[in-house]
Amino acid sequence: MPPQCCEPDYDALFDDRAARRELAEYRRNGPSGATRRLIERIVLEGVEGTSVVDIGGGVGVIGAELLGAGAARLTDVDASRAYAAAAHEELERRGFGDRVTVRHGDFVRIADQVAPADIVTLDRVVCCYGDWEALIGRSSERAHRLLGLVYPNDRWWTRFVVRTGNVVMRVFRQRFRFYIHPEREIDARIRAAGFERRFHHRSIGWQTVLYRRVPD
Ligand SMILES: C[S@@+](CC[C@H](N)C(=O)[O-])C[C@H]1O[C@@H](n2cnc3c(N)ncnc32)[C@H](O)[C@@H]1O
Repeated sequence: MPPQCCEPDYDALFDDRAARRELAEYRRNGPSGATRRLIERIVLEGVEGTSVVDIGGGVGVIGAELLGAGAARLTDVDASRAYAAAAHEELERRGFGDRVTVRHGDFVRIADQVAPADIVTLDRVVCCYGDWEALIGRSSERAHRLLGLVYPNDRWWTRFVVRTGNVVMRVFRQRFRFYIHPEREIDARIRAAGFERRFHHRSIGWQTVLYRRVPD
């Protein structure tokens, strides 16, 4: 279904050209910066035989790396048709096709149709979605053991960059907007859902955070 009036058009920004570029970059250099850090921390917690849901999986980097490290199954959900197709292509090429489901759609809307998993990841996705409470709420509900995120630091300079980016979006008549969401509230929301923070790293722009569900 095409996006309705005023909904963000993920296909316009995350298009085939961008997907091709990111896939080539990943094949050349592997996972970059914060993504690599998140993958390494998840692997340290143990991934053998686990199920993974990667929300906004882009070209499939986290999925491919965790399956390569021993995860058993992956569901990759992406709101961009081109990115979902690129992820599918990459995961097939790596020989993971029979352990993977790639779904196109807004995770918040289709979360009920996505089976819960041991590990749920959101790598640079929270900054692409307006309703952080719904996104974080539905993601944490679906995570049995680990919830990993990469999202922007809530600082004046990141807000400045995002505001500038959104002016550019408006000038080019794009409906898509970037967001800096309140990190204290995000952290509190995840803890209230039953998680403890296991790892936290900040670079200038991004924070990498891994939460583990506290056993009952
Ligand atoms: C900046 S890209 C990051 C891609 C990948 N995770 C990475 O770090 O390379 C953001 C991705 O999240 C997707 N996305 C944003 N909101 C989403 C949602 N609610 N449900 C599913 N995908 C979403 C976009 O379509 C896009 O592919």
